[in-house]
Amino acid sequence: MKLLVCGGAGFIGSNFVRQRVREHGDEVVVLDKLTYAGRRENLADLEDEVGFSFFHGAIEDADAAADAMQGCEAVVNFAAETHVDRSIAEPDAFVKTHVVGTFVLLEAARERGMRYLQVSTDEVYGSIDEGSFTETSPLAPSSPYSATKAGADLLVASYHHTYGMQTSICRGSNNYGPYQYPEKLIPLMVLNAMHGDSLPVYGDGMQVRNWIFVEDFARGIGFTLDHGEPGEVYNVGGPDECPNIEVIERILEFTGASRDLIEHVTDRPGHDVRYSLSSDKIRALGWEPRVRFAEGLERTVSWYRDNEDWWKPTRSGDYREYYERQYGRKLA
Ligand code: NAD
Ligand code: DAU
Repeated sequence: MKLLVCGGAGFIGSNFVRQRVREHGDEVVVLDKLTYAGRRENLADLEDEVGFSFFHGAIEDADAAADAMQGCEAVVNFAAETHVDRSIAEPDAFVKTHVVGTFVLLEAARERGMRYLQVSTDEVYGSIDEGSFTETSPLAPSSPYSATKAGADLLVASYHHTYGMQTSICRGSNNYGPYQYPEKLIPLMVLNAMHGDSLPVYGDGMQVRNWIFVEDFARGIGFTLDHGEPGEVYNVGGPDECPNIEVIERILEFTGASRDLIEHVTDRPGHDVRYSLSSDKIRALGWEPRVRFAEGLERTVSWYRDNEDWWKPTRSGDYREYYERQYGRKLA
């Protein structure tokens, strides 16, 4: 199959592209705007593979989308602004990429009769105190990030309903693993712990996330592409839930850093307390997660320990500026 993978230079997209090229023998064209989170280095090991090509461009640019799409049978759209804190500070890009960008891709795919898979998130359901969200749970997003992701999902569903387009939506829980930009909880805490920098815990740290190792989510997306029913939504949730403070304590154990680095800071506005997905629907098709949290976290810590060349640039300018803006003081 020849796939257009939008946002393929990011964390999950690059893991997905690697699987599809190496394990499925697919031809893959990546279209990526290369924001701060998208990096060619994430795909460096694939650059010489037959069947892999890269287009630098934005999904909201109809010409770029049309050029990149040539000869492809399906679009898999990962392209997004993905950090909730950034969406609270500066929502503009979230609206443009998620709503306008998704619309442009849908139109281009519809014109060419292509299959379309939207990569989405459990955050569109909002927070849940007990039990787990199913695919029919109502959408109740809390942040500009999740509201614009929900808007994109609704557009995708409407293209199936109205035009009969062959669409799918995959909603994943919190991913972690190699190549994740160190603004997200796990890589940020791993690198801060390795450097003896403080570990900023929002509020009491008792918020719960449903962790999934990135390779398992990437396989779930591929699984949906290969076996999913058109027009359907599939939740792809991890096997374990864990409160943030416990995630940080485990990272302290793996890195040998001191508990004194933990610093409770002002909570995120509108912070969702708990996410939890029921993945029974995709499990019934035969997918299941392979990596439990304890193993995946250890692998992740090792990957960051072994890949200084990858994360070093993220700790020099950008991240320090971001930290100062976020917490109103300089990194130690
Ligand atoms: P990421 O931030 O690591 O990567 C996003 C990629 O999209 C980058 O390569 C970036 O350059 C590209 N991009 C951004 N705007 C673009 C635009 N306008 N045009 C083209 N490319 C653009 O994100 P990620 O964590 O890999 O997330 C990928 C997808 O998975 C997103 O749609 C996200 O909502 C979804 N998701 C993420 C998680 C998670 O825990 N990270 C969980 C569930 C779902
Ligand atoms: O649930 C899926 C979503 O997971 C994805 O759709 C998003 O793209 C992704 O960013 C992630 O969103 P979260 O807000 O859950 O992830 P984040 O890593 O930002 O935060 C995880 C939890 O850790 C959350 O409760 C906030 C908390 N946190 C985060 C940071 C960065 C802290 O306590 N301190 C921090 O410094």
